[in-house]
Amino acid sequence: MSSSTRVLFQLQLILCFLLYLHARPAICFAILTNCKIDKIYQLGDSLSDTGNRIVEDPLDACGSLPYGQNFPRGPTGRCSDGMLMIDHFALAAGIPFLNPYLKGNANFTHGVNFAVGGSTALSEYALAEKDIMLLGTSSTLGIQLDWMSTFFASQCNTHINRLCPGNFKHALFMVGETGGNDYNFALAQGKSIEEAKTLVPEVVEIIRDAVRRVIDLGASRIIVPGNFPIGCFPMTLIMFKSDSKSAYDEHRCLKDFNDLAAFHNQYLQQAIITLQEENPGTTIVYGDYYNAFNWLLYNAPYLGIDAKSALEPCCGNGGIDSESSPTSGGCGSLNAQVCLYPDRYISWDGIHLTRKAYSVLSKWLLADITPKLKCALQVVDH
Ligand SMILES: *[C@@H]1O[C@H](CO)[C@@H](O)[C@H](O)[C@H]1NC(C)=O
Repeated sequence: MSSSTRVLFQLQLILCFLLYLHARPAICFAILTNCKIDKIYQLGDSLSDTGNRIVEDPLDACGSLPYGQNFPRGPTGRCSDGMLMIDHFALAAGIPFLNPYLKGNANFTHGVNFAVGGSTALSEYALAEKDIMLLGTSSTLGIQLDWMSTFFASQCNTHINRLCPGNFKHALFMVGETGGNDYNFALAQGKSIEEAKTLVPEVVEIIRDAVRRVIDLGASRIIVPGNFPIGCFPMTLIMFKSDSKSAYDEHRCLKDFNDLAAFHNQYLQQAIITLQEENPGTTIVYGDYYNAFNWLLYNAPYLGIDAKSALEPCCGNGGIDSESSPTSGGCGSLNAQVCLYPDRYISWDGIHLTRKAYSVLSKWLLADITPKLKCALQVVDH
């Protein structure tokens, strides 16, 4: 690869990122096409679910307005007012949005979304052993991996669309974000931060095993996202409000909760280093949601986000389980108010983000991740 090609490629990324602040240049949407990615397979939870959870539970709040109010097709089960990060990744790769696995008769030519809102990384059994109950779906990471392997096996046996191992040269696998709900559920069910921290090694181990499993299935390009700084999420700020000033950092986020996410992320990055050493033929990249979010939060005023509403939900009172109680005040419940300008907010419903936030985060992440996928190299080789 010539050094001028590399420089050009890096320049393209930087330009995309800088210009984004003022416009939406087409250049941004072409970057991942350097990787020639033709399929994306997504595992995870509500940060990436594009419609599985609402097949399991049609009453799930994310399946009806105001969710999806700024998505072209209206509500689809996406837990936001519009597009998610995985939608931006698909756009950047030049492929259609991913269809949810549980939607029968969907077109899976360019990948499958196995993510389910509310899912955990640990199995129902492993959580029950720690007195943590699932709240919602039982389609945990292990179940999603079973779906994936069943799906590949079924495709491999037909002559129409051969997806056998070895046929994933240009496929991208997203293993997460996953694991966030394991901590959310533990904390919501009365566990302390310290107790939640003791879950980290096991949660990361199950994510590591998931990466090994997708590699066994034929994956060669894998992104493994970490967790957001949940101490900056309205739900955390409301549920765990503290009278002590020292509980908060300079951005008015709850420090201990951010530390928990950071601890998980450190552990995860160590696991990725080991995985990369074990699998030199694959590219495994950490998705730095934590720093992407902090960048968004710190630059909110320059991105059209009101500083005062950076830590407030646009919709509802910050509670999420609106379906269990129509009067909970959570987004989607009867009493919930929706802000007039969601694009001026980071948080949509207290735990999920607005389309605006996801859009900014996607640009940051694409600029960070794409060079690490080493795609420019491949373009030159072909
Ligand atoms: C599925 O989508 C692909 C690409 O978007 C298209 O070429 C193909 O015709 C579609 N298949 C069916 C059965 O609609």
